[in-house]
Amino acid sequence: MANFKTLPGFREFYPEDYAKKSYLFSCWRGVARSFGFQEFEPPVLEQLDLFTEKSGEEIKSQLFEFVDKGERAVSLRPEMTPSLARMVGAKAAGIRRPVKWFAIGENYRYERQQKGRLRAFYQFNADILGEASLNADAEIIALLIESLRVFGLDENQFKLRLGDRNLWVLFLQNSGVEDERLIAVLSVIDKLEKVSPEALLDMMKTALEGSKANAEKLIENIRQLVALRSVDALEEFFNSIGVQSENIALRLKDWRDLLALLDSMDVAKFVSVDMGIVRGLAYYTGFVFEAFQTVGTGRALAGGGRYDNLVAKLGYQDMPAVGFGMGDVTVSDLLELVGLEKSDDFSPQVYVIIGSENVRKNALSVVRILRSAGIRTDYPFKSAGFGKQFKQADALGAKYAVIVGEDEVAKGVVKIKNLKTAEEREVAISEIVSAI
Ligand code: HAM
Repeated sequence: MANFKTLPGFREFYPEDYAKKSYLFSCWRGVARSFGFQEFEPPVLEQLDLFTEKSGEEIKSQLFEFVDKGERAVSLRPEMTPSLARMVGAKAAGIRRPVKWFAIGENYRYERQQKGRLRAFYQFNADILGEASLNADAEIIALLIESLRVFGLDENQFKLRLGDRNLWVLFLQNSGVEDERLIAVLSVIDKLEKVSPEALLDMMKTALEGSKANAEKLIENIRQLVALRSVDALEEFFNSIGVQSENIALRLKDWRDLLALLDSMDVAKFVSVDMGIVRGLAYYTGFVFEAFQTVGTGRALAGGGRYDNLVAKLGYQDMPAVGFGMGDVTVSDLLELVGLEKSDDFSPQVYVIIGSENVRKNALSVVRILRSAGIRTDYPFKSAGFGKQFKQADALGAKYAVIVGEDEVAKGVVKIKNLKTAEEREVAISEIVSAI
């Protein structure tokens, strides 16, 4: 007996599952194109150091990496952002800006298996490169939200939590944290909701080793900060602890401007101010965000943010960037949970019924006429009675049966039957396509 299984964390798509995935992707493609984004595709396998140097600690430990037959250290892509930055960087001199690109593809992470987390998952990515203004952040956030709304999801089912690494850096610098410790402290803040208070304090002490900033005091202020839900509240908090600077005031103005843009794009009701979002990936520089389902398990549907230094870090010219990745696993779980799951319909529109083997060749030429008009058309390989053929047409979900029998062939016509209404009529072969 055959004894092969799919590897842990990998999926296979039988046609019914493929039709669901296809629906998801066609909705995403439709929204991205309506926003003026162009589709691109990076390679699945890349040089290992593209990811080890650019993605951050957590992803590094999850790489599907190996040495290929040419002795190259390579890895399957855990995400598409470093490849995108390379592709745009390599053509930076001639490329029309802003670059608005999207991609849908499979990524690979050797994760511990849990609900919603697989080792092979699809991601819809959309990014804008070459535009530093808040208009690009607003466009990306609006696209993210519309890419969930397109399925019929609303503000009771998901939210986008908006944080800001830039504001964190200004706050931490004002709190006495030295520049070279900022990344370490930010990754401790990223763990705030994920580890115990004792573990957090230990992590913070390690991150601050030898610094003049005090770990307890800093954690207390951080906890207050992440609980705030409006820009006014952020401003009051900074004033109350005496952390004030022109840069902070300017950054708070950016917040107000961004929220106003999102309001005019009719997505502000999905957005909540939440400095608890700092994002685990190393390359983020400014506004960062994550979309979460607010029903069921509350898992992350998408994440992204600004990453203004990545293109330059890869050795190309400076190029500001902002984007997001949305996973297919959690989004389809959510759609199923709230009853919004749908499939693309690939069933034949027409099933051609063959009256007898004498007219099979006539039937095949009718099949070809229908197919070349783009009508999904199927027919039986074996000779069978009318009843059996109609049953098959029904089972396949066809909308019409086109009957090619000996009488019809003699008259140069076919009979078209609407399988929903049972209505039947005869049409000349030259008119079949317009009759369907
Ligand atoms: P990320 O937060 O690592 O960001 O992934 C984004 C989304 O991909 C997650 O919110 C989740 O829906 C899905 N995802 C991630 N890992 C898994 C997994 N193991 N199984 C199932 N789904 C998963 C990035 O990847 C960034 N590159 C996004 C980005 C694009 N930032 C800027 N541009």
